Amino acid sequence: MLRGNKELWLAFLAMALITGIYALVVFFTRSIPPAGELFGHGVGIVGFVLMMMTETLYSLRKRSRTVQWGRMSTWLQFHIFTGIVGPYMVLLHTSWKFNGIAGATTLLTIIIVVSGFIGRYVFTRIPRTMDGLEIEGTLSQEALKQARRLLALWHTVHIPIGIALFISAFVHIGAALYYATLLK
Ligand code: HEM
Ligand code: HEM
Repeated sequence: MLRGNKELWLAFLAMALITGIYALVVFFTRSIPPAGELFGHGVGIVGFVLMMMTETLYSLRKRSRTVQWGRMSTWLQFHIFTGIVGPYMVLLHTSWKFNGIAGATTLLTIIIVVSGFIGRYVFTRIPRTMDGLEIEGTLSQEALKQARRLLALWHTVHIPIGIALFISAFVHIGAALYYATLLK
């Protein structure tokens, strides 16, 4: 079970810190950091690594039968933390221009984060065990079934968006590195 909002507060704190650094860069350079230069490129790369961790680590832990490090709920909290901070860094990378495939990738990134919040809302309301059922008391077996069905339906949206997002991100990265970095 996911309890409390710790990961949301930590993500908020990290975003405030990153915003502070971004503001300092804007202040000293007197310009918006371009996506292809040191700072803009840097936040893009680190943000994207965090997003890749979001896409893979929780799923790997969920499916691994042999090695079972750490609690599932901790991994989900980490999923949510990196799933917010990573996209935020990538947003600062864009230099607020959204042309072509890079713009489409940004849109998919925003959609998956919003979808994540919806999933988190449903997820935190589903008791996983019979204990949970007793604690909830009023929640009938039928309502529980419905909530699980809703989560399954949500998975069929959240997961393909993630796949589309990474395909378009790799196309953008390949094209950006080729045209904007290597050809310079
Ligand atoms: C999901 C991850 C990413 C998203 C959503 C994203 C989005 C964007 C956007 C919106 C732009 C501005 C495009 C424009 O000028 O209209 C941009 C530029 C750029 N991105 Fe990314 N980006 C991501 C990851 C990366 C990564 C990991 C790299 C490098 C390894 C990268 C390299 C670049 C470069 C070099 C530019 C500048 C292109 C130019 O100056 O024409 N991006 N990106
Ligand atoms: C870069 C952004 C994100 C990506 C790429 C991503 C990707 C994924 C993937 C692939 C899964 C399926 C895991 C599995 O069942 O194997 C998943 C599940 C989930 N994600 Fe995300 N996610 C992102 C952001 C978020 C955010 C921001 C939240 C919450 C605010 C979130 C909440 C959830 C929840 C609650 C689940 C369901 C866990 C379960 O059913 O076991 N995600 N995500």
